[in-house]
Amino acid sequence: MTDDIARGLEGVTVAKTRLSSIDGEAGELIIGGFPLGELAGNATFEEAVFLLREDRLPDEAELASFRDDLASRRNIAPETRETLRAAAEDGLPAMDALRMGVAAANLDGDAAATDGRSAQSESGDPADDALTAVAVMPTVVATYWRYREGAEPIAPREDLGHAANYLYMLTGEEPDDAAVRGLETYLDAVIDHGLNASTFTARCIASTESDVFSAVTGAVGALKGPLHGGAPGPVLDMLVDIHESGDPESAVRERLERGERLMGFGHRVYEVRDPRAAVLSDAAESFYEVSGDTDFFESAREAERVGVEALAEHKPGRRLETNVEFYTAVLLRGIGIPRDLFTATFGVARVGGWTAHCLEQLTDNRIVRPRARYVGDTDREWTPVDER
Ligand code: ACO
Repeated sequence: MTDDIARGLEGVTVAKTRLSSIDGEAGELIIGGFPLGELAGNATFEEAVFLLREDRLPDEAELASFRDDLASRRNIAPETRETLRAAAEDGLPAMDALRMGVAAANLDGDAAATDGRSAQSESGDPADDALTAVAVMPTVVATYWRYREGAEPIAPREDLGHAANYLYMLTGEEPDDAAVRGLETYLDAVIDHGLNASTFTARCIASTESDVFSAVTGAVGALKGPLHGGAPGPVLDMLVDIHESGDPESAVRERLERGERLMGFGHRVYEVRDPRAAVLSDAAESFYEVSGDTDFFESAREAERVGVEALAEHKPGRRLETNVEFYTAVLLRGIGIPRDLFTATFGVARVGGWTAHCLEQLTDNRIVRPRARYVGDTDREWTPVDER
């Protein structure tokens, strides 16, 4: 009965895109024409965002002006700050705060104008709104986090790059080059990944000719779900347990014996190691070498080795290797991103892809409107309420 229904739209192609391409069998990911390692190892986040929007890299002058433009859009309205304060004081998770903050990203008003806030887009131009959405995400996350820590938010600095400014707004300290490079690599590596649930959500909303902020708000809602963006926190919990046990081999095997899944292993699309795991593992290794905190990195690497081996015995015939979330957890921990902000930081990156997909959808738009097969009754007769 359900055989010809594509549950979860699995295997259904609904759009052409030049933004990213995934080869799950070969374990290859192309972003904006670049093999992942080529892009993530070199690009600043601003360059990656420009690439997805324009389908080419900016020259020096274009990059400088693009950076300035993005930096000038970082401020959020006082009303948005108050909402984030309330979210933090209520103990809401970061993704709820992000959803609220992004939904208000085009908020304008007198209060904002007197607060030195740069004008947000009121143009109704999707490309302009897309830039604002990318620019404000780190401010929203960092503002929420500061309130959650019982501190005052730190205003964004226009002289810092996108990644450096995010770290600065979280801590109040200018980050070192290794942390900035590590974060840029992460942001680039996860900026886009085909028609995942949040990206598809953004495209669905864009296809109605709604606005970009609505599309990004919907995408944040999709990313929040534990089946999509929620894994790196639990991966970190697992790796901390394994590290503290002092015996990765036994800790990993005991987990499997208890019937638990090894977090950060396996992927619905990749049949081999997730290519993002390779890029992020290299980035984490470089970062931990510089920071000198190599113990944690070494135990994570040992957990990977033992995990792959144990899963091969546990599930013969299936290749279960590390996925993007494994080394995301390792890298973000090293850089100093709090565990509770891992998924929101994923959003800070993926908004580059979401907004580019919205713009791409609009260039050849057709409203998304699949069908459902009705399987309910067809011959019911009305019974008045007092007779039911
Ligand atoms: N640890 C232990 N066993 C596993 C794991 C794992 N990490 N992954 C798959 N398996 C086993 C399952 O128990 C299942 O066994 P069964 O057939 O006896 O029930 C078999 O392999 C197939 O599992 P599925 O869930 O059907 O495999 P699928 O490829 O669809 O799942 C998924 C992919 C959900 C990511 C899975 O590998 C998993 O739960 N991994 C751990 C959580 C995780 O890391 N999530 C982040 C994924 S990355 C991302 O989504 C962006």
